[in-house]
Amino acid sequence: MKKIITLNINGDDYDLAIKPTDFLVDIVRDTVGLTGTKKGCNIGDCGACTVLVDGRPILSCLTLAMSVVGKKIKTIEGVADGPELDPVQQAFIDKGAIQCGFCTPGMILSTTALLERNPAPTEEEIKHGLAGNICRCTGYVKIIDAVKHAAVLKTKEGTDVR
Ligand code: FES
Ligand code: FES
Repeated sequence: MKKIITLNINGDDYDLAIKPTDFLVDIVRDTVGLTGTKKGCNIGDCGACTVLVDGRPILSCLTLAMSVVGKKIKTIEGVADGPELDPVQQAFIDKGAIQCGFCTPGMILSTTALLERNPAPTEEEIKHGLAGNICRCTGYVKIIDAVKHAAVLKTKEGTDVR
């Protein structure tokens, strides 16, 4: 039996009819239509479905939609500020850290959370921060470079704010 709940996604409230067994990845993609969140393994192994809940990365394929009522959900569609790319997105482009792009939304959200809690991570800390996100294409070197570059861009952005 479906129940009406409200989810706050990227700052907007969505009233949604869902079943208690519905997972967040399916609600975000199929009901709300935000298909930037990817569904890879669907068993918690790949990180493609990563979204932020109250700023922390979670696997939306393992998270019941019911369990995030009242929390702030951020998907890849909520990262950019209007037409302006976020520094993390820009860094991934600058460093060529995207090939097929299937892992990229999850990588960008995990990076966003990492840089929020640690604005200048070491390479080891970056590897640890992205340990739950698998990429089949890039070999990770460019992704790690992109995270380092994003840290620099974000610091610069903070310095530029007057
Ligand atoms: S789709 Fe969720 S971890 Fe792979
Ligand atoms: S760019 Fe293809 S899986 Fe990462």
